[in-house]
Amino acid sequence: MAEQSGNIESKNFTLETPFAPYSTNSFHVKGAENYDWGMKDRLSRIFSPKSGNTVMLAFDHGYIMGSTTGLERLDIAIPPLIPEVDVLMATRGAIRTCVPPSSNKALALRCSAGSSVLDDDMSHENIAVDIEDAIRLNASCLAIQTFIGSPGQASSIKNLCDTIDAGNRFGIPTLGVVAVGKQMERTTKFFLLATRMLAEFGAHFIKTYYCEDFERVVAACPVPIVIAGGKKLPEKDALEMAYNAIRCGARGVDMGRNIFQSECPLAMTKSISKIVHEQYDAKTAYDYYLETKIKRR
Ligand code: R5P
Repeated sequence: MAEQSGNIESKNFTLETPFAPYSTNSFHVKGAENYDWGMKDRLSRIFSPKSGNTVMLAFDHGYIMGSTTGLERLDIAIPPLIPEVDVLMATRGAIRTCVPPSSNKALALRCSAGSSVLDDDMSHENIAVDIEDAIRLNASCLAIQTFIGSPGQASSIKNLCDTIDAGNRFGIPTLGVVAVGKQMERTTKFFLLATRMLAEFGAHFIKTYYCEDFERVVAACPVPIVIAGGKKLPEKDALEMAYNAIRCGARGVDMGRNIFQSECPLAMTKSISKIVHEQYDAKTAYDYYLETKIKRR
């Protein structure tokens, strides 16, 4: 017990200043104001406290597609890109075998599985990782795919809610991933519905596709949105999509094929990061991509 006598009386209580958690936007992640310390610490590994944004590299494709163009050798394709991103989104099999633990990057652990490209309907998934193993891997968040409007809707919502409950017990956030079933159209109306549903179930941030009137999707969602890249586009178009998403309020990009199938994945990753963290516009980022690509020859 510390000696109490002789201490200078404490008086600097700054009573005129409200307690930080209840002042507006004192934490840099949307909707996270009232979360516990551990949850905020993990979210701060994902979303940079400086820019408020995140660059996530998605390479979890193998869990559904097997060997994918650009990801034939995870051990060769991924390590050079790691320094340029904030978060690695992958399966536990990929992380344990092909990512050095010394990378010290946030991990978005793919936690749902259950179908493959051989299925006509890929919306029936299960929870595929135990919370204990996610903790063992030091996951910064748990990623669950949700199929709104598809035959597997109810079970995928249950997977999401069960994972949120498990993660909440240990202060680990959940990323709700909006999947677009074959029968769904990629409309603003669909994304308004799906993103809001996932947030109301308690997902701590949402991954979805960019669409028209994206600022409306962002405004109606009380937690941060990051966009998925989708099928490979010409680099210029992919950078423009990333720029438009950030301009409309997305807090990051979780991109896979548009990075690892690019002619120069490293230049593409660096250029995306310039848009996400340094407010580059699409043209400046594309010029930067071309310059960086040339230097790497
Ligand atoms: C979706 O649930 C998975 O995370 C995908 O592997 C990811 O969205 C793919 O990224 P991209 O569409 O940018 O290739």
